[in-house]
Amino acid sequence: MLNIGVLASGRGSNFQSIIDEIEAGRLNASIKLLVVDNPDAYAIERARKHSIEYLYLNPKGFSTKDDFFIKIAEELKARNVELVILAGFMRIVRKPLIDSFRNRIMNIHPALLPSFPGLHGQKQTADYGVRISGCTVHFVDEGMDTGPVIIQAAVPVSPDDTEDMLAARILKIEHKIFPEAIRLYSEGRLKVEGRIVKISGYELKENFIVNPPLR
Ligand code: GRF
Repeated sequence: MLNIGVLASGRGSNFQSIIDEIEAGRLNASIKLLVVDNPDAYAIERARKHSIEYLYLNPKGFSTKDDFFIKIAEELKARNVELVILAGFMRIVRKPLIDSFRNRIMNIHPALLPSFPGLHGQKQTADYGVRISGCTVHFVDEGMDTGPVIIQAAVPVSPDDTEDMLAARILKIEHKIFPEAIRLYSEGRLKVEGRIVKISGYELKENFIVNPPLR
């Protein structure tokens, strides 16, 4: 059984998708702790409802940003957390936490990286006018959304999409690929070699998407 720690700042729908997979018996993991940097995060309600321990840490209560992340690392280690999940955690993770959990921190980003990193990935995508976007689960390194890619999924983008329409379409897929990435990790199937994440038992499927559809 894989011990997980989750960091979140808001709504927590990705956190919920992980809880649901565990409760359905499809993910052999246990969420040991939710850490939030925002006392109003709805993720807290979800933790309460599912009897998951949570901790609010106010970043302003620490003299440096590094100290904040040292504290998070300590709390996670105290609970024997093996994998850290950033589920809508709106801060750049600093070195002390990355060093403590090298290639053991996963993030989800609502675009096909390396396109549209940073904040508002869906708005950047809709404004640019690409035909295909999607979401990316990756390991976290020192950069902004730059770590080794684990899973990506594509969704079509309509020229008439608003940011919200596209975000909703992407979010549905986020809820599928994040638990899947954790499942692969829990099964010991991921190995990071430089930037490349090797997946044991991986099989290429030569599907393709054309958008707009061909006639
Ligand atoms: C998601 O769009 C995720 O891709 C991004 O932040 C959002 C979090 O949503 N990193 P939620 O809090 O999981 O509902």
